[in-house]
Amino acid sequence: MSTDAAAPPARATILSGIQPTGKLHFGRYFGAVENWKRLQEDYDCLYMVANYHAMSMPFQAKKLAENSWEICFHLLACGIKAENLFIQSLIPEHTELAWILNCFTSYGQLGRMTQFKDKSAQSEEFISAGLFTYPALQAADILIYKAGVVPVGKDQEQHLELTRDIAQRFNNFAGQDFFPIPEALYTAVPKVMSTADPSRKMSASQGDKHNIDVFADEARIRKQVRSAVTDTGATDAAGAAGAMSDGVANLFSLLSAAGQVGAYASLMQDYESGTLRYADLKDAVADGLVSISTELRARYQELKKDRRAVKNQIKESSFEIRKRAQTTVREVKQICGLA
Ligand code: TRP
Repeated sequence: MSTDAAAPPARATILSGIQPTGKLHFGRYFGAVENWKRLQEDYDCLYMVANYHAMSMPFQAKKLAENSWEICFHLLACGIKAENLFIQSLIPEHTELAWILNCFTSYGQLGRMTQFKDKSAQSEEFISAGLFTYPALQAADILIYKAGVVPVGKDQEQHLELTRDIAQRFNNFAGQDFFPIPEALYTAVPKVMSTADPSRKMSASQGDKHNIDVFADEARIRKQVRSAVTDTGATDAAGAAGAMSDGVANLFSLLSAAGQVGAYASLMQDYESGTLRYADLKDAVADGLVSISTELRARYQELKKDRRAVKNQIKESSFEIRKRAQTTVREVKQICGLA
């Protein structure tokens, strides 16, 4: 493709972030990463490993470092391009802008964030101020690249709204439309629930049995799917008898997310006629997940052969992306009367 140096950037900038927990489970894969990969075709995409955010809850230095690199390998294996990927702490301007934006963030509004309320209720001992101001850092992540679109899960809706408010307040102060007001892009993929407890989201923080690791070996994936909860209450009866149980609905969601269109249609027909065998549904889900996992694991192992080269690539991309962040911070400081 030929590029005209004077041409304005035709594609909107997208930013999203992911916290570096040690593993990538299918909830995150279907809910976020697969979509991130697709968006790269049409947008200027920036994807960030949010390691500064990960410090807002109790953490260990060694684990944080390991997990931050590990998620890079995972994301690259999933098809995220190296030039679009960076580690937050390699761009210290994020924290510099976060401070400035803290001063444009309402204290009362931060206190109303449900994520803060949930997480501070979870940890009985130490609740850091970082957990409280977390959304101002998230706003900085987005606004520092003047991103217009932010693909996130519904759980981030409140943070996105707050980011929009912060951008608006800053723009009012600046007397110009300095920051674009970013739009959330919610993934259309059905929410993936825990197979062990289908009333909860599949999540890393609930413990191993509540999520299925994309990079786990085949036997483990099959075992987890086999033990998925189907009917929890007394109202059993596949199909016909009434509403589908959460567990069965979740298995169908997984089947659909895994792209098993044919199996989905025929098993759904069985369900509707009351002849569905849960074992068949589980086998089909396991087949779908295993086929995705096998491909991604091969790519992951390939990348792991030359760790140093991959790490250097990420450092390189962070260095390049940092230049964009520096430009914004320079402008913001000027607007604020900072040297
Ligand atoms: N808070 C997000 C989460 O926990 C991660 C995140 C950090 C993020 N910075 C971001 C998401 C900026 C979107 C944009 O999932």
